Amino acid sequence: MNTLPKLNKVDTSQSPPPQPVTCACGEASEEEKIAQLNDILRQYRNVSGALIPVLQIAQAIFGYLPEHVLRIIAKNLNKSLSEVAGVVTFYSFFNTVPRGKHTIRVCLGTACYVRGGKQILAALKQELGIDVGETTPDRVFSLDAARCFGACGLAPVIMVDDNVHQRVKVSRLAQILDAYRNPDKSGSRETPSPSEREKR
Ligand code: FES
Repeated sequence: MNTLPKLNKVDTSQSPPPQPVTCACGEASEEEKIAQLNDILRQYRNVSGALIPVLQIAQAIFGYLPEHVLRIIAKNLNKSLSEVAGVVTFYSFFNTVPRGKHTIRVCLGTACYVRGGKQILAALKQELGIDVGETTPDRVFSLDAARCFGACGLAPVIMVDDNVHQRVKVSRLAQILDAYRNPDKSGSRETPSPSEREKR
């Protein structure tokens, strides 16, 4: 899997530091998002190596990178659309289709794989009706595969957003998913903490 260069590699000495954009809450209108993007592009216009950080910020604003956003970025950074699209395609971090509210990542590292990770992934595909890299039609879940979360002793492991679910069994997947589908029913309004509920 390709990994992204870090933002601090960008030379910002030639322009004011960019304003961080961390929220893609969905409340902003399309016009407001475009305005945000244009503001970011103004800050990055003369910054070398700006493409990747701008793409990251754009994805944070829009939730993904639709073609019209790539065109705006290409035009403002004086790059071709094919060059911008090539970078987006190269890095798995970038998404050109909308993502689900929750991202499920199934570890297929060695420890998880031999302890059932493959079966976990297959069951999730069946349960959600999607393949790796896809999003459910209701945009609740996106499904990804990953390699090692550093919790090999607790294999098989999946992550849902920032929550680690350890020693996952196929028979518990429905319970895990339900906690994200219906967080209110789980007794917690915040990000569900199924890991707590899973403790036996
Ligand atoms: S192999 Fe899955 S957490 Fe390390």
